[in-house]
Amino acid sequence: MLETTHFIDIDDISESELDRVLSRAAAIKAGDDETRLPRTTMAMLFEKPSTRTRVSFETGMTQLGGHALFLGPEDIQLGHGEPLCDTARVLGRYGDVIMARLFDHEDLLEIAEYSTAPVINGLTDDAHPCQTLADLLTIREHVGSFEEVQAAWVGDGNNVGQSFVLGCAMAGIDLTVATPPEYAMDDEVMERAADLGQAPTVTTDPEEAIDGADVVYTDVWISMGQEDQRNEKLEAFDGFQLNEDLLDGSDAQVMHCLPAHRGEEITGDVLEGEQSLVWVQAENRLHAQKGLIVELLEE
Ligand code: CP
Ligand code: NVA
Repeated sequence: MLETTHFIDIDDISESELDRVLSRAAAIKAGDDETRLPRTTMAMLFEKPSTRTRVSFETGMTQLGGHALFLGPEDIQLGHGEPLCDTARVLGRYGDVIMARLFDHEDLLEIAEYSTAPVINGLTDDAHPCQTLADLLTIREHVGSFEEVQAAWVGDGNNVGQSFVLGCAMAGIDLTVATPPEYAMDDEVMERAADLGQAPTVTTDPEEAIDGADVVYTDVWISMGQEDQRNEKLEAFDGFQLNEDLLDGSDAQVMHCLPAHRGEEITGDVLEGEQSLVWVQAENRLHAQKGLIVELLEE
C-alpha cells in the first residue's frame, strides 16, 4: 500500500515508495511477481487521444486479472453536460480505481476530490507521472544507478518534462534542462524539485545540457491542444531538435515519451538509432503501471 490515495503527480509518493514501485515493476517484468487483483475494475477517462496510456493500462489490468473500461467524453454523459464532480462520484462507486487523461490539471484534482476510489493521472497539461515511472525504470535498466546518471531534458517545459524534473529530483539524478526561455518549466515545479533536494540546472542552450549527459530526453513541441500555437512554437524551438549534429560526439542514450514527430523535435535517424531507448521506454509503461496499480490497490 502507498500512503497516498491518489497518484496525481510523481511527488505524491515518497522517495522510498518510488523505489518500491520501480522494484515491483521490475519484478513483474521479470516474471518474479505474480500478484493478481481479480475482479478489480479501472475506469479510464480520456479527453485526449492516446496509444500507450490507453493500451498499457487496459492490457495491464487484464494481465493483473482485472478489467479496464475505456470512457471517452462522447461515450458518457460527461460530454453531454453532466458535471465532472457527478461523474467522479459515480465512477468511484462502481470502479476500484479511476485513471484520467484530461486537459486541465484542476479538473483532475476535482475528480480526486469527489471520487471515493483512487485516481491516477494519465496526463494533464501539467503532469505525466506514469510516464516518469516508466522513464525511471528505463534509466535504471539501461543507463545506470540514479546517483551516477547525468540526464538532459531538451525541448518544451511541458507536462512530461515537469514530472520528469520531479522524478529526477526524487531519484537523485543530476539533470540539466534546456528550453527556449518562453517555454521554461513552471517556477512552482522547480520549487517542488528544490524542496525534494535537487532542482535541475537550467539553460537555454541545448549543447550545454547535452555536454557530458548519459541520457537525453525530448518530447513533441506541439502538445495535444496546442495546435493553434504551431507556427510560433516551431520558430521558438529552432536549434532544439535532437539530430546527429547536436548529438555529434555524445554517447548519450536517447529518450522520447512518444508519439514522436520525426523532423521536428527529433530526426528519424536519432529516434531509430543505436542510442535510442524509446521502444523499451514505451514497453516500460506497461510494467511500471502494473507496479503502481498493485502498490496502490493491494490491501
Ligand atoms: N507517452 C504517452 O503517454 O503516449 P500516448 O499519448 O500514446 O498515451
Ligand atoms: N507533451 C505531449 C505528451 C504526449 C504523451 C502532449 O501533451 O501532447
